[in-house]
Amino acid sequence: MIEYRDRPPLDNETLHGLFLASWDDHDRRDFDAVLSRSLVYVAAYKDERLVGFVNVATDGGEHAFLLDTTVHPDFRRRGIGTQLVCRASELARRHGATWLHVDFESVFLDFYFKSCGFQPTVAGLIRLC
Ligand SMILES: CC(C)(COP(=O)(O)OP(=O)(O)OC[C@H]1O[C@@H](n2cnc3c(N)ncnc32)[C@H](O)[C@@H]1OP(=O)(O)O)[C@@H](O)C(=O)NCCC(=O)NCCS
Repeated sequence: MIEYRDRPPLDNETLHGLFLASWDDHDRRDFDAVLSRSLVYVAAYKDERLVGFVNVATDGGEHAFLLDTTVHPDFRRRGIGTQLVCRASELARRHGATWLHVDFESVFLDFYFKSCGFQPTVAGLIRLC
């Protein structure tokens, strides 16, 4: 049984542990600063263990940006990622956002388009440093 919680208290070490297990290139970062700027975030728990996370940043207006969709490797392909994104989308809508943006690598096309309901669009990206 997976439990989904909206904006639960999350400390740096707990999030760092999830990201270290889940992302090949994770570098330690200040999650407190990230969460303080978040419109909404959702976490997934198996018992009291954090197994999934997604964050939504905002421009303060109609645009919201989905970031850091993460499910622990031991819990993937069970629909947790889809549930996290759907819940985050609904919360962003309730907080006044009109558009939810996301960018991702092509391996996740089916995840975002077929499972989560995103539509393809043209977008751009610049690496700043
Ligand atoms: C992307 C991620 C969050 C997906 O989480 P998940 O809980 O496994 O996703 P779901 O179980 O909801 O997947 C639903 C569907 O999306 C597609 N999908 C999910 N992960 C996929 C993958 N790695 N490759 C191809 N398709 C994938 C499949 O169609 C899947 O359905 P199926 O299992 O019946 O085939 C997870 O793989 C992850 O944390 N990856 C590492 C971090 C990362 O790169 N995040 C993406 C940020 S843009």
